[in-house]
Amino acid sequence: MKILIIGGGGREHVLAWKIAQSASVTKLYCAPGNPGIAPLAELVPIVVDDIDALLLFVSEHAIDLTVVGPELPLSLGIVDRFLEKGFKIFGSTKAASQIESSKVFSKQLMQKYGVPTASAELVSLEEAYSRVSSLSLPVVLKVDGLAAGKGVVIVRTQEEAIAGLDFLKKMGTASAQIVIEEFLEGTEISFFVVTDGEMAIPLGSAQDHKAVFDGNRGPNTGGMGVVSPSPGMTPALSAEVMSKVIEPTLRGMREEGMPYTGILYAGLILTQEGISVLEFNARWGDPEAQALLPRLKTDWLEVMTAALEGRLNQVRIDWDAGSSVCVVLASGGYPGAYKKGEIISGLENDYAEAMIFHAGTGRQEDEWVTQGGRVLGITGVGPSLEIARRHAYKRVAQISFSGMHYRSDIGL
Ligand code: AMP
Ligand code: GLY
Repeated sequence: MKILIIGGGGREHVLAWKIAQSASVTKLYCAPGNPGIAPLAELVPIVVDDIDALLLFVSEHAIDLTVVGPELPLSLGIVDRFLEKGFKIFGSTKAASQIESSKVFSKQLMQKYGVPTASAELVSLEEAYSRVSSLSLPVVLKVDGLAAGKGVVIVRTQEEAIAGLDFLKKMGTASAQIVIEEFLEGTEISFFVVTDGEMAIPLGSAQDHKAVFDGNRGPNTGGMGVVSPSPGMTPALSAEVMSKVIEPTLRGMREEGMPYTGILYAGLILTQEGISVLEFNARWGDPEAQALLPRLKTDWLEVMTAALEGRLNQVRIDWDAGSSVCVVLASGGYPGAYKKGEIISGLENDYAEAMIFHAGTGRQEDEWVTQGGRVLGITGVGPSLEIARRHAYKRVAQISFSGMHYRSDIGL
């Protein structure tokens, strides 16, 4: 099979690595990919939201299956456009991906179908301003639309609430509607399933670390490191998430006439009252995928194909027992402004117990250089969290570039 992966970060690197292992792959492409992916897949210089160009590419190259990494093309309707033209594609339709692209949509869906979630009011931006003085704080303010992880503020005072709305207002149309949500306290768990719309198979759990500095201090990022499975996850809790969250959500999507297919990522919080959904995403997490997929033993291409053909019930997914830890190496200044073009050393060393996934790297003459905020993800795998952590940080210590920073407490 000829496969095209869409996206260019660490998540797409691990997808390419995993898919390349399938015996059914004859040729792998990645658009736009990154230089770290080049040994695995031919890079195609098309950006992820140029759906016309991607359609032309799959038709000219007779691609058998397209795999979508990020949310943007899903929210723009890439799956609908491909299906209309008869091309196979793994991901959710534009309507179904509203589960991520509209927080108002997902909140209403959860309320209607009895999925446990924080109580919330859905209001216009103007209304949100006029409510500020009567809010019982703390409270969480979220913009409706996609905001690359920056559309959520937790506010504890009236002043913070006004500053928070001022901040969200800058997101333009994404903030036309605001979700004012009850603040919940507990342990966050990211939970993944693959689904054909009817049936879902759990893909495991992970815990992301969004704050930039050790001890969860500093501003939020796209994710600075992940441990998998998530501490606190148990087989009983997984079964509860499937029956209380995943099944009613998929039933709701079917009843709304927009069956959900692909990867569903539930951002959960385990509070004293039980499990609750903070958000849904219509894709693998980044860097969660870099922690989860290295432990997957089953051929991932087979699983995707079975999901597309509605025969997930014939699939068995096997995982390496044990744990994984992914540590993100970021550019100095990230998540704020950062310099690009710093020379990266230590990538060529060989150390079998850890894997390197490129997120924001480039090539300059014969050197690896930094090209993004999150530059690399280093994943260690082992029979225990402690050993996985040791493997990851041993490899991290061999890599350096000017301004490099990372969290040293992932998996502690
Ligand atoms: P979201 O994009 O909705 O997952 O929100 C991003 C982050 O904000 C989450 O990972 C949580 O850390 C935090 N958050 C979101 N909603 C709530 C809530 N209702 N209570 C407490 N923290 C929240
Ligand atoms: N790491 C968080 C996300 O992918 O949404």
